[in-house]
Amino acid sequence: MKGIVIFGNNNVAEMIHMETQKLTDSSFTVDAFCVDREYLNSDSYCGKPLISFEKAIEKYPPHEYDMLSTVLASSNGLRKKMEVFNRLKKAGYGLLNYISPLSDISDDIQMGENNIIFSHCRVGLNVKIGNANMLWHGVLLDHDSVVGDGNFFAGGCKTAGSVKVGNSCWIGINSTIIQQIAIADETLIGAGCVVVKDTEPFTTYVGNPAKAIKAHKEEGIIVR
Ligand SMILES: CC(C)(COP(=O)(O)OP(=O)(O)OC[C@H]1O[C@@H](n2cnc3c(N)ncnc32)[C@H](O)[C@@H]1OP(=O)(O)O)[C@@H](O)C(=O)NCCC(=O)NCCS
Repeated sequence: MKGIVIFGNNNVAEMIHMETQKLTDSSFTVDAFCVDREYLNSDSYCGKPLISFEKAIEKYPPHEYDMLSTVLASSNGLRKKMEVFNRLKKAGYGLLNYISPLSDISDDIQMGENNIIFSHCRVGLNVKIGNANMLWHGVLLDHDSVVGDGNFFAGGCKTAGSVKVGNSCWIGINSTIIQQIAIADETLIGAGCVVVKDTEPFTTYVGNPAKAIKAHKEEGIIVR
């Protein structure tokens, strides 16, 4: 069995490490953390070694270790998520999914790599999820929905059945997307939004019913 290195020294990395320490079957044991050199502020994190990504490639090589990126990067732009994902893939790492044992995921889920699903999420029947998505606590992703790559679903947001979500979207806390809606690439859905129509790409929406308030094409999605 391969070892596990987490990319990131952020609260997502810490939560995953804390949760997996409580697992009795020890199927997900974190060996070390790594970050880009500019984020290296210590030689340990959560009691495990913390090293730069460059050194991790030598010390924890891809034939012996898998990785999981916890980069959410909302304040650096959501596109950073896919940049890190692609970099780890290019270095040859297998990228793990982390699904909290406290979530409720249908057995027939089809899922890519490096997805993180936190506690109290429900994923319904016949759902397809791409790569590098994050479902924060208490998200509902209902039946027959299809999700692309690099999306972030904030706590408590609800997507009804047969929703399509593109790539690099931010779905705000406690928002609701009704059934059969298509969320275009790089849509930002504000907190508490109720989305009742398909969205335009690179656009921020707020309110109930959701209305477009601005575009963010050049800078990508940045949520502070
Ligand atoms: C949508 C959002 C990104 C807009 O942020 P912003 O680009 O800085 O926009 P502003 O704060 O300048 O707001 C623009 C207008 O939209 C309104 N607005 C902003 N967010 C809103 C929301 N969630 N619901 C309703 N109206 C909202 C503001 O009141 C303002 O209206 P005004 O022009 O009449 O004064 C932000 O408010 C938001 O909801 N972020 C999501 C937060 C979240 O989900 N966090 C989870 C953390 S895990």
